[in-house]
Amino acid sequence: MTAELVLQTEALTKKYRRRLAVDQLSLAVERGDVFGFLGQNGAGKSTTIRMVLGLVRPTSGRVRLLGHDMRRDARRALRRVGAIVEAPAFYEHFSGRENLRMLAAMSGGAERGYIDEVLGIVGLRERAGDPVRVYSHGMRQRLGIAQALLPDPEFIILDEPTDGLDPQGIREVRDLIRRLRDEMGLTVLLSSHLLHEVEQICNRVAIIDYGRLLYQGTLENLVTKDKTVKLTVDRLEEAFDLLSSDPALAVSRNGLQSLYVKMSDEQIPQVNRLLVERGFCVAELSPQRETLEQVFLRLTGAKAPRVSPITKRFIGN
Ligand SMILES: Nc1ncnc2c1ncn2[C@@H]1O[C@H](COP(=O)(O)OP(=O)(O)OP(=O)(O)O)[C@@H](O)[C@H]1O
Ligand SMILES: [Mg+2]
Repeated sequence: MTAELVLQTEALTKKYRRRLAVDQLSLAVERGDVFGFLGQNGAGKSTTIRMVLGLVRPTSGRVRLLGHDMRRDARRALRRVGAIVEAPAFYEHFSGRENLRMLAAMSGGAERGYIDEVLGIVGLRERAGDPVRVYSHGMRQRLGIAQALLPDPEFIILDEPTDGLDPQGIREVRDLIRRLRDEMGLTVLLSSHLLHEVEQICNRVAIIDYGRLLYQGTLENLVTKDKTVKLTVDRLEEAFDLLSSDPALAVSRNGLQSLYVKMSDEQIPQVNRLLVERGFCVAELSPQRETLEQVFLRLTGAKAPRVSPITKRFIGN
């Protein structure tokens, strides 16, 4: 059985004058995903999200949201979708609860009980009566998520929900997103340029660069391709020379204590045996999980250095 697609974009493209902000992007978010949408600043995340939500008109391509075509049926498509796009704006002099009440009123109203429930979910029940102007950045961000929950959504789209937060704030938002999925059964799409962030809560990711898709799929498929093994031995120099002489191994040194060796699963016990047989004392032989950061470099590294078209003109290339 194929999974139900909550969001599907087909060759979605946005051109601003001659600049391609989003280039033939095809994304598929399945029901139950916490889907990470990754890319560096200016990669085209917000533009994509705006097109998905019908806030920006695509140059070409298609968006299907909860089974509806956004061009033909935007209202039905958006009925059960909540979103924050970049920093959400609130009335500073009104309280968090009043802001939510006004926002709810604009889209047909919500029961008082539901607004309090939403405030509880995002952990703002206690401070709901305070004016937004005294809210911390993290509280505003959580109020933004509360606003995204107002339409009682099946799917929420959060554009950089942890941007600018401190580690504690990031943890709170991350826990909240997990609860939205686990306890409320929501499907979540969140964008980020913080790669390690996404690694901790997302099951699937898409990575874009210059508006183009570099990878889409599970996190496991992305991160476990080549294995780097950390190796701590005595007589490090000698061990380095020994292993470097094997063309099947890529050995690098990092600090005075350890070597990092790229190898396959089968090679790990062979390398261990070789070292022990040669009288080395092996203190540690541990496969390192590649971080998403390294993955990004691996995926983009094959291309030319990142030079913007304007810089190119200056340096004459
Ligand atoms: N309204 C606009 N007019 C012209 N160019 C735009 C417009 N909006 C975005 N762009 C350009 O499109 C590209 C993608 O921008 P976008 O905001 O989608 O990136 P992003 O991935 O969200 O970046 P960030 O991480 O900084 O939020 C950028 O080059 C940007 O300058
Ligand atoms: Mg953005």
